[in-house]
Amino acid sequence: MIYTLAALALVYGVTFVMPIGGADMPVVISLLNSFTGVAAAMGGFLYSNQAMLTGGILVGSSGTILTILMCKAMNRSLLNVIIGAFGGSSAAGPDTGDKTVKEISLSDASVLLSYSQKVLVVPGYGLAVAQAQHLCHELETLLVSKGVELKYGIHPVAGRMPGHMNVLLAEADVAYEKLQEMEDANNEMSNTDVVIVVGANDVVNPAAEDDPSSPIYGMPVIRVWDAKNTIIMKRSMAKGYAAIENNLFFLPKSRMLFGDAKATLQKLVAEIKNL
Ligand code: TAP
Repeated sequence: MIYTLAALALVYGVTFVMPIGGADMPVVISLLNSFTGVAAAMGGFLYSNQAMLTGGILVGSSGTILTILMCKAMNRSLLNVIIGAFGGSSAAGPDTGDKTVKEISLSDASVLLSYSQKVLVVPGYGLAVAQAQHLCHELETLLVSKGVELKYGIHPVAGRMPGHMNVLLAEADVAYEKLQEMEDANNEMSNTDVVIVVGANDVVNPAAEDDPSSPIYGMPVIRVWDAKNTIIMKRSMAKGYAAIENNLFFLPKSRMLFGDAKATLQKLVAEIKNL
């Protein structure tokens, strides 16, 4: 009986998560985490073990709250996440026609940033990979000393865990008031001279707003394309977590600054200091 149940549970577990992928995966991981808490709480009932019961309830309830918050951040219902036909689709998004990618040189980027009034840094998973948070802060200090107003636009699911960007930037001593939530950043976007996207991809993908066939359609994103200029720092044209192409890279106001985020920021800071 136990072996049959274990085998059935295994098959059920695999078939439950197999169709889910792409940007929905973190929500499912959080949901399964909360289930472990509920299971532990049930165990606590069975064995009359108060510690197990309390611990299980804590894990179960906090996991459920986190799951709901993540669903809200992605503008999707939990049911839709679980039963929606999803996955790391390779949807290419609507064709923007001209698919040329424009690059910006370090010297042009440094001049553009130094003579801007308002700059927004949008960090993503690549910031964590490159461990570039301290250099981001250095760039901020440098630009602020030149009279530039600099803020950070934080997407709720940027990175790989809730609050990932907040933790990284706090580690680099970035002042809390400098962090702007997605809605506030979007409201001020048209007045922003330059947006620097540091290792972010899915959270700045216009397909979430203009391509109903995209797996991330409906997810709120930071509308960096509304700013006057967008500089995107990443190593290549590779896709992000949701494995979909990002037409932001081909828009007329976008310019790519290829390279590892830490190394590029280091060179950019040096270039601005030499201006
Ligand atoms: P992603 O869409 O994953 O994009 C990260 C980008 O960073 C990549 O395109 C990559 O491009 C670039 N990158 C990687 N290493 C780099 C480096 N050393 N230097 C510079 N760039 C680098 O990240 P995102 O925009 O933060 O979006 C997060 C995604 O993860 C969402 O789809 C979200 O749903 C999902 N997710 C979120 C969570 C939570 S709760 N935050 C948990 C799990 C999954 P290159 O390879 O070309 O450099």
